[in-house]
Order: sequence, then structure tokens, then C-alpha cells
Amino acid sequence: MAEQATLVIIKPDGLKKSLTGNILTRLSETRLKIVAAKVVRVSRELAEKHYAHLAKKPFFEELVRYITGDLHGDNRVLALVYWGENAIGKIHDLAGATNPEQAVPTTIRGQYGRILTSGVFENVIHTSSEPEEAEREIKLWFEPHDIVLDLYPVREVLTPERKSQVWA
Ligand code: TYD
Repeated sequence: MAEQATLVIIKPDGLKKSLTGNILTRLSETRLKIVAAKVVRVSRELAEKHYAHLAKKPFFEELVRYITGDLHGDNRVLALVYWGENAIGKIHDLAGATNPEQAVPTTIRGQYGRILTSGVFENVIHTSSEPEEAEREIKLWFEPHDIVLDLYPVREVLTPERKSQVWA
């Protein structure tokens, strides 16, 4: 099995419940490498793009409120890229089933997830399910310079018109 990259997001419930350390410890069992990590304030636009495949689902609006932090009053998530052999499968297995009630109890979602009365699965982490999805998601959440490996082809552009902030 070739080396792969996969996206992990520790969702707002994970941060709110102070589970970051526990989750990272569980993920370290895989012996995969962290090649990018950042705390992200999730905009509605990013949430809608990330979950575009679920836009027609009845729970979509609640799902957007969940990932943007609206449900937990805390709009931070921790986004990471893990890299190594069979990274997608290893992390997917460790995360467990989407529905925390059906997740094996020793998986991350089995241990820490719950179902809200609204029906939304509060399942603590997101992980990519397949290589095409991982590539799409990693490109959505990270810029090339955020990642310490050359994962995907890049092109160079000059953007003098782009407004950016530097330390005052
Ligand atoms: P999905 O992409 O199907 O699963 P996964 O996160 O395991 O790749 O769904 C995205 C999120 O949507 C999921 O993590 C939790 C939420 N969700 C629900 O709240 N209810 C549902 O019935 C489904 C299928 C998903």
C-alpha cells in the first residue's frame, strides 16, 4: 500500500470537551506523520464547501451549525494532515463509524461521540474516506506552504493585488 495523505479535523465538540490531547494520542498509535496542523475559524462558506456532498440532506443546516461552531459557542477546529502508508484506512478505522452509537466503543467516535436530540451525530472528528476526497479536502483547508511535504503539484502566481496582513 502506497503512502497517502489524509485530512483530520478535530471538530468544535472535541475542542470544547478538551479532547484534543486524547485524540492526538489515539492518532499517534498509527505511527503516521503529522505534516500540517492549524487552528481554523470555520466560515459558513468553508463548511458548505467541505460538506457539499451532503447539501441536500435534511440535517445539512444543523451540520453547518455544528462544524462552524454555532452549536458549541466556539468556532475553532484543529485541522491536521497525516501522511504515511495506508493513512486514510488507518485513521478511518481508528475514528470509527459515522454514527457514534454504531461505532466500536474503543474507536475515537465510539469513546467520545454522542447523538444530539436534533439528530446530528456529534462525532468529534472528521477523517477523509478515500484518496480523491482527501486531496479535495486538503486543498480546501490548507495552502501549499502550510504543508511540509510537496503533496500535490503547485503553480507559482504573483498576486500583488492581494491584501494581506503583516505584524504592525
Ligand atoms: P458523512 O460524510 O456521511 O460521514 P463521515 O463524517 O463519517 O465521513 O457525514 C458527514 C457528517 O454529517 C458526519 O460526520 C456527521 C453528520 N451526519 C449526521 O449528523 N447524520 C447523518 O445521518 C449522517 C449520514 C451524517
